[in-house]
Amino acid sequence: MRNRSNQQQTFALEPWRITETGFDTESNFLDETLFALGNGYVGLRGTHEEGYNGPAGTSLDGTYLNGFYESEPIHYPEGAYGLARRNQFMLNAPNGKRIELSIEGERFDLLQGRVLKYERSLDFRTGVLTRLVEWMSPQGRHIAVTSQRLVSFNDKHLFAIRYSVEPLNFSGRIQLLSALDGQVKNLEVGDDPRAGSAYSGAALQLIDLEQTDAFCALVHRTRNSGFNLVSAIESELKDGNGQTVDRETVTHDQRVEQWYDVFATEGKPVCLTKFGCYFSSRDYPEAELLPRAKQVLGVARTAGFDTLCTSQAEYLQAFWQQADVEIAGDDALQQGIRFNQFHLLQSVGRDGKTNIAAKGVTGEGYEGHYFWDTEIYVFPFFLYTKPDIARKLLEFRCGSLPKARERARQLAHAKGALYPWRTIDGDECSSYFPAGTAQYHINADIAYSVKQYVEVTGDEAFLVHAGAEMVMETARIWMGIGGYIDNKGGRFCINEVTGPDEYTALVNNNYYTNTLAQLHLQYAADVADMLRDRYPAEFKSLARAIDLEDDEPARWWRAAEHMYLPYDEGLGIHPQDDSFLSKVVWDFAATPEQNYPLLLHYHPLVIYRHQVCKQADVVLALLLRGNRFSLDQKMRDFDYYEAITTHDSSLSSCIFSIIASEIGYRDKAYGYFMETARLDLDNTHANTQYGVHTAAMAGTWMGMVHGFAGMRVYDGSLSFSPYLPEQWRHYQFKVRIQGRLLHVHVKQDQAEYRLLEGDSITFRHQAQAIRLTPDQPAQTAGIAPLNTDQTALGLQTAAE
Ligand code: BGC
Repeated sequence: MRNRSNQQQTFALEPWRITETGFDTESNFLDETLFALGNGYVGLRGTHEEGYNGPAGTSLDGTYLNGFYESEPIHYPEGAYGLARRNQFMLNAPNGKRIELSIEGERFDLLQGRVLKYERSLDFRTGVLTRLVEWMSPQGRHIAVTSQRLVSFNDKHLFAIRYSVEPLNFSGRIQLLSALDGQVKNLEVGDDPRAGSAYSGAALQLIDLEQTDAFCALVHRTRNSGFNLVSAIESELKDGNGQTVDRETVTHDQRVEQWYDVFATEGKPVCLTKFGCYFSSRDYPEAELLPRAKQVLGVARTAGFDTLCTSQAEYLQAFWQQADVEIAGDDALQQGIRFNQFHLLQSVGRDGKTNIAAKGVTGEGYEGHYFWDTEIYVFPFFLYTKPDIARKLLEFRCGSLPKARERARQLAHAKGALYPWRTIDGDECSSYFPAGTAQYHINADIAYSVKQYVEVTGDEAFLVHAGAEMVMETARIWMGIGGYIDNKGGRFCINEVTGPDEYTALVNNNYYTNTLAQLHLQYAADVADMLRDRYPAEFKSLARAIDLEDDEPARWWRAAEHMYLPYDEGLGIHPQDDSFLSKVVWDFAATPEQNYPLLLHYHPLVIYRHQVCKQADVVLALLLRGNRFSLDQKMRDFDYYEAITTHDSSLSSCIFSIIASEIGYRDKAYGYFMETARLDLDNTHANTQYGVHTAAMAGTWMGMVHGFAGMRVYDGSLSFSPYLPEQWRHYQFKVRIQGRLLHVHVKQDQAEYRLLEGDSITFRHQAQAIRLTPDQPAQTAGIAPLNTDQTALGLQTAAE
């Protein structure tokens, strides 16, 4: 086991924002991620409008569009049949943020002259990034520069900037340049797979340029993926008297510049307003892109920056109304959890055609790929707070079902669909199959989220018209790769897969995979039966479309019933897979701190030969299939795996925190939670500069709701088992479930539940059944001491 030491907190502990009070080239790269803005489609890294001339490797001026990618062949020096053939990577799009400023010929640059005052803050309630700078030029001219930036939550294509300059000790000539810069490249990285892509060329080819009055646009085409992109800006400058200043437009290479020259009077700010947008042929026909860009910018200009700010704040008010988690007594956590929720909202694709990348739209780490992170980590947060977004995430998977079918054929599965381990548009992009394609559990993870979605929202129409097909097609893969094996007592085994733990690869009977596949097969069979009974016409047409044989659902059910689930009687634990316990335990005592994460210091074979886990695997199964295990069992598994887990993956600590909460290891629960909640803010994994960790961010919400509050929904039935960590005074949150909005408030010795919307609901609070009705909305329940009485919690003992 390894303990990770937290880095120093760098921001004041404010509940609703992060603020930096100094500009520092050393932290600049990281700050660009933390101060990034996004709306699930457009992502602008928190780079400064003026650009940056600091040391190499301390900045990445990134503009990203979720789902907008270039593709290129993957070159394998030694190929093999069926390997992923093409990679996709999220492109750095033209930079529309650029604003440059000169006063009397002196260029404003944070690295020149003297910065007298600096404050930059990102406010989670307004969604506006604000920077206030007072600067003294090398020749003694004193100015105040205020910039505000937002990426609109109400229009996915739009961003806006207001940039004002006030001369404080002089009157003189000010030059402002508002640019749209198409000379952009992706970051080149070396061996760290978490940092970005290895692509080095310019992926965008300029095919057209348009400039009329205030409107400027670049039209690009991607070389291989064949998309068109229109990037457009409009800007307007008002002088100190509020008069519009003429502009001159200059274009060269891939850059359009709007120049303003104005005489500014001391004490009177001049103000530049800039609107920008991006439209790609992934969303609209090519011919519509330019007209749409013009229209959106025209509407934004007419509305004005202040109106955009107002609607941004309204959107966020509605979001926080549902999603806020309030913790009284720990300012660091409070800030961390809201920061995380805010970034999740900024990162998540919500148009059904895009998903949420491991790093959102804040950086190029993991190349903008979508993983299982979506279904198992991010999905629950949206499911219980903004279920419309959860549905869109599932729609994305439904949309890529044809590609998953194609992939299954490449892997010799005659029937069914296999989802890609990592992808942007649905094709498998994982070039290292042992920790990629081999993670077949992705299929079960998706089915798990469909089941959760339907149970929590009651949206049966989704199941009937889209979800069922996906669940059945993906279930078929287990029949394709699994089989009844004699020397395993005729049990149904799943061989040669990789489970969630990427420090162990290509194994037989990974516990997590088998137990999730079991649930998946049962669910697929149940869904088939339900459709046959209640929606016969839909069932018939689906059965015809996927060529479903009459006895297939029964075969799924039988495989589930006979699923082999490894158990070691001697240790009383679930081995991670068939060979796991016959490996040597990693020598943690002899591993220096600087050798973590292990993946950057040891060949995979060295790691695979040992009992060492990168992340929760069996422990995650204890959560997802939690009603199958006794608390004793959970404790034994937790103890065993905790001792050999490095948490080198950011997806790990939150899961350990939740199970630690459940088994009464409260200090550990708190410690693991702390690690997750401020993982990006404190850069504890030392790679947040390449983008935020969206799974861990959502894991924070899970740690609160599933961990401290002990909320579970198994087979549609809701329960809570809350407690209050001793460091806090109280905490509260809301969840949307089965058409109700439930408010949960956990205090010292009691939990208070209130039904804010919807009909009466019955659920369990520890061992007690609670019925909340609209006319008797609040009910309080005591909190039992540590969860040692398993029967009182209604848990089955030794369910397997
Ligand atoms: C983890 C995977 C995860 C990926 C993207 C890896 O480090 O091991 O489980 O899907 O990161 O977040």
